[in-house]
Amino acid sequence: MTLSLFGNADDDQTWREELAPGAVVLRGFALPDETGLVAAIDAVTTQSPFRNMETPGGYRMSVAMSGCGEYAWVTDTSGYRYQSMDPMTGKPWPSMPAVFRSLAERAAMRAGFEGFAPDSCLINRYEIGARMSLHQDKNEKDFNAPIVSVSLGLPAVFLFGGLNRSDKSLRVQLAHGDVVVWGGPARLRYHGVMPLAAGVHPLMGAQRINLTFRKVA
Ligand code: SIN
Ligand code: FE2
Repeated sequence: MTLSLFGNADDDQTWREELAPGAVVLRGFALPDETGLVAAIDAVTTQSPFRNMETPGGYRMSVAMSGCGEYAWVTDTSGYRYQSMDPMTGKPWPSMPAVFRSLAERAAMRAGFEGFAPDSCLINRYEIGARMSLHQDKNEKDFNAPIVSVSLGLPAVFLFGGLNRSDKSLRVQLAHGDVVVWGGPARLRYHGVMPLAAGVHPLMGAQRINLTFRKVA
């Protein structure tokens, strides 16, 4: 008998849910790393604090954001883009913590995307009521690489749509430790997050934190 590196849950695959071709939820995949992830989030956001950015249309986003790696996504009245400097600090974004990179690479691999090498991680903080409207991740140069999205803290309803904004969305409950990976034929699917319901998470408090890893350049 060979021992499974991933425990018994690996045998029945109940932790792996296919959303669409190229899109999968890995239930609880980040749980073994939760302590390291929380410490790394604190370290990154001490250097580059969470902030509510403004959209080109002049709205203040309900989700507060930070980032790390070579690039992170920013928006202001002049548009949205990736950049290597944090406009708030005038310095490069903090480097990507090893615990982040390792988790993202392993999750991509488990979802069937070999050799994912993220150069960007966005950190989204949802307080109660915060939401993210349906959008595509399409500011990256390389659509061959998947998106790896890690959920921590309060549960949320993730909307996973199609390639057109008007396509019906799946409503997927995401809990602390769940990781969603979408790439290949699913790479440009619309997605979003419903307003965060009130609650208190034992480790994270009254918030949800999402990490999204991308290959930007
Ligand atoms: C995003 O699409 O950037 C965030 C998704 C999430 O918070 O789960
Ligand atoms: Fe997104």
